[in-house]
Amino acid sequence: MRISGNTIFIPGATSGIGLALAMALRDKGNTVIVGGRRQHLLDQIAADHDLATIAIDTADPASISAAARQVSAEHPNLNVLVTMAGIMRVEDWTRSGFAEGAAEIVTTNLLGPIRLIDAFLDQLLAQPDATIMTVSSGLAFAPLKVTPTYNATKAAIHLLSESIRLQLAGTSVDVVELEPPAVQTDLMPGQRESAFAMPLDAFVGEVMGLIEAQPDATEIQVERVKFLRYGEARGDYDQVVATLNQADPHGK
Ligand SMILES: NC(=O)c1ccc[n+]([C@@H]2O[C@H](COP(=O)([O-])OP(=O)(O)OC[C@H]3O[C@@H](n4cnc5c(N)ncnc54)[C@H](OP(=O)(O)O)[C@@H]3O)[C@@H](O)[C@H]2O)c1
Repeated sequence: MRISGNTIFIPGATSGIGLALAMALRDKGNTVIVGGRRQHLLDQIAADHDLATIAIDTADPASISAAARQVSAEHPNLNVLVTMAGIMRVEDWTRSGFAEGAAEIVTTNLLGPIRLIDAFLDQLLAQPDATIMTVSSGLAFAPLKVTPTYNATKAAIHLLSESIRLQLAGTSVDVVELEPPAVQTDLMPGQRESAFAMPLDAFVGEVMGLIEAQPDATEIQVERVKFLRYGEARGDYDQVVATLNQADPHGK
């Protein structure tokens, strides 16, 4: 993905990584459209940061279709989709009663990106140079005990990204997977203050540097995520899992 000159839709950018990435990409000369459910934040972002906004609930197929129609009408040059929206919840799988909550996580974190890519694919394929950026996690590669369904959805996003990259080879659409480590956002209670999480500005700064230096990269990996990402390849996976789960009860 080139660092400038794109028109980028980021559903899931009313806060956290999405918002910080939206502002960094705007500063590099991209047109960025911010999506999310919280209308008061969308209004504030439009006023404070001069970014276009679109209301979207990525857990709702009708909302995704409506947003795709709106983006197509208002931003016909759209060439980058970042499937950022995600939720992370602690679950207890030692007692029954977790299925409903797990289904909500799957709906947002896995079905959401699938439905977004489906809704935006034709628009992206019509551009000479386009990118789908998926968002997995270091937890796609090593499990945090307290968030089983979250880990599973992010592992699925990794394999989905690898698979559709193979199918889309030879088209104008590249597939890039962003693999964040723990980052200081409001994804989980207390995470913004966690000493185990990377400061948001440092994370996004490193991501921008990687995109700029390696426009053809298929995975965007800051240094901090490599501990989790490559445990199996290094041969220290068991130690990685043990360290991850004793570091912090919330894994941050
Ligand atoms: N922070 C980390 O440590 C970390 C690590 C690895 C991966 N990630 C991934 O990075 C992504 C962003 O997370 P974050 O850390 O920046 O957390 P965050 O601040 O909570 O941001 C989550 C974003 O997703 C949006 N969202 C959630 N459900 C949505 C829905 N149904 N429809 C539309 N938007 C929805 C939220 O907007 P609204 O509430 O306004 O809809 C918000 O903008 C997530 O996919 C997360 O899994 C984060």
